[in-house]
Amino acid sequence: MTFNIDLPALRENKIHRKILIVGGAGYIGLALTKELLEAGYEVTVFDSLIHGHEPLDFLLNKPRLNFVKGDIRDIGLVNQTVKGHWGVVLLAALVGVEACDKDRQQTLEINYLASQNVVECAFSQLVKRFIFASTDSCYGQRPGEKLNELAYLDPLSIYAVYKSKMEEKVLSMPFSAYFSPVILRLGTVYGMSPRPRFDLVVNLLVREIVLRGVATIYSGEQWRPLVHVRDVARAFRLALEAPRYLIHDQIFNVGADQDNVQFKDLKDLLLKINPEGQVTITPGLADLRNYYVVFEKIKKILDFKPSISLLEGMEEIRDSLLSGYPADPYSAKWKNS
Ligand SMILES: NC(=O)c1ccc[n+]([C@@H]2O[C@H](COP(=O)([O-])OP(=O)(O)OC[C@H]3O[C@@H](n4cnc5c(N)ncnc54)[C@H](O)[C@@H]3O)[C@@H](O)[C@H]2O)c1
Repeated sequence: MTFNIDLPALRENKIHRKILIVGGAGYIGLALTKELLEAGYEVTVFDSLIHGHEPLDFLLNKPRLNFVKGDIRDIGLVNQTVKGHWGVVLLAALVGVEACDKDRQQTLEINYLASQNVVECAFSQLVKRFIFASTDSCYGQRPGEKLNELAYLDPLSIYAVYKSKMEEKVLSMPFSAYFSPVILRLGTVYGMSPRPRFDLVVNLLVREIVLRGVATIYSGEQWRPLVHVRDVARAFRLALEAPRYLIHDQIFNVGADQDNVQFKDLKDLLLKINPEGQVTITPGLADLRNYYVVFEKIKKILDFKPSISLLEGMEEIRDSLLSGYPADPYSAKWKNS
């Protein structure tokens, strides 16, 4: 007996894999929505639009895209929306240390209690793949160490505490022959997305050097891994597409070893973005987070390499600002805190 396996058709199977992006109208969410639509998926974006209605412009009239406006604390609506999806990506959260410190009660409700419900709904609705967006902030303050996925976590903020608790929750779901949970721990993201964020360090510094001609780097000694938002979106797609045995119950740091930088190193790049500008490095006001992350695992297992260099990403932000997008880069809607 011979088997004729039509490989291209098998690959095209992804067309029938509906993906739900919870929090899909945000900075990373819209980049991921675009990535998945371009790859041929049918995508549902579920989002409460806490940063306003602007993302709807991007979402309107795209083929194979469904949008559900809702809050993940509405468990009935989440359950109803999850039904029928092959994969679920959980991005929805109050994002960032400051935003979470401002409203601890909502952070608990959204980033922990409701997020747990989303995983449980996905599990009980027979979703095959569940990807949770975590953060390298969970590593805390770790000068002198090189941190891979096995390193212990030492979250310093309520934001990172709930992220690490959610990692535990996702990885403690009962074993199932169909449900595969995956954790992606993201570095500090930068770059343009349909919902830009100017509270992220690289984006903020580029905005300042381009529009005001001056930028201030605080402290500068701390290490952070940087990763472009479109590379992050690709990492999520790779985690959705990889065979189960490669990703089941796995944690991946998302980034590349060479993109661990000390903030003071950004000075030279900022001066390339605006050679007329002035960059000051000032002691104090340092965010305590300090970590050098190792990205060997995602490179080896998912063949993930960043496709955009830090300088290219910064040039793109500059060009976008100079061409007038967004029209109001200082508006509160482009920052989370
Ligand atoms: N941007 C980064 O540098 C970074 C780094 C590490 C991890 N992450 C994680 O990636 C995810 C996305 O971050 P982002 O930068 O795109 O932030 P974002 O604020 O732009 O996106 C979050 C989205 O979630 C939605 N949302 C918030 N509360 C909700 C609720 N109760 N119900 C439904 N939707 C809700 C918001 O409307 C928003 O569209 C987050 O989980 C974040 O913790 C981001």
